[in-house]
Amino acid sequence: MLRHFIHTDDLSIEEIKLILTRAGEESLFNEKRLQNKKFITIFFENSTRTLSSFDIAIKNLGGKVVRLDVAISSAKKGETIADTAANLNAMNPDSIIIRHGHAGAPNFLKNYVSCPIINAGDGAHAHPTQAMLDLYTIANYYDNNIKNGLKKLKGKTIAIIGDIRNSRVANSNIELLSRFGLNIILVAPPHFLSSLDYNKSNISFSDNLESIVKHADILMSLRTQTERHEIRLYGSLQDYAHRFCIKRDVIGDKDLIILHPGPVHRNIDISDDVLNDKRCLVLTQVQNGVKVRMALMEFFAS
Ligand code: NCD
Repeated sequence: MLRHFIHTDDLSIEEIKLILTRAGEESLFNEKRLQNKKFITIFFENSTRTLSSFDIAIKNLGGKVVRLDVAISSAKKGETIADTAANLNAMNPDSIIIRHGHAGAPNFLKNYVSCPIINAGDGAHAHPTQAMLDLYTIANYYDNNIKNGLKKLKGKTIAIIGDIRNSRVANSNIELLSRFGLNIILVAPPHFLSSLDYNKSNISFSDNLESIVKHADILMSLRTQTERHEIRLYGSLQDYAHRFCIKRDVIGDKDLIILHPGPVHRNIDISDDVLNDKRCLVLTQVQNGVKVRMALMEFFAS
């Protein structure tokens, strides 16, 4: 059966455990696993980490990647996104990896292709591969053996801080981390909280970062998604930073880890000194992203 990865709940808990365990067994990866397979990446929004991470992950497994440059594609000549997808599909790729500014675009495109669609981020909706690498990073911090690490997550508390309302990373993490038994505190000024119904018993809210730090095992900071704000929702990023930036005096010596999907707004999301603190795993996330995407591509396309 043709499977797509649009949303974290496209995978069962057992499948997630399998994929993340696989990501932890780097030595088992076969550099010919995706040999003779070709992949198309098409990113309608900017990307540094996700685009290069997919590229490297696929090449590590011997696959070929064609990166469609949207700026010079026929999307700029008025071709519909469905026609673009159908035409790319006619070249028989083994998977199409897409990022799009409109929530729901990858889901819509499923109807026009005969290969797995992998969602690399759609609007403010979902970013499932980012949530998978975040889950891996957290589990791996608690135990090198990912299976054991995943078991240790039950009852841990993560504070997700920032522009939750506009964050696909927050949405995907909330879904995925809830399934692994984490408590989630959404920390944001009211205008950055979602209108979505987060009516789950493991989710609570706060607008006071300092007061929740003592309860948190993990802090996940998010960038303010200015490109998704139709109207200016806040005074200034400096006002926001005053209350929500993760600074040394806010975290003290607390035993916790700090994550951020990138790109980081330095000294707005996380201060320079905290970015250099050994509790800050931002670059570990990037490193893990390649392994997790290798395991995901193996799962969906081989
Ligand atoms: C995020 C994204 O594009 O959703 N970054 C990423 O993929 N690592 C977060 C962001 O842009 O703030």
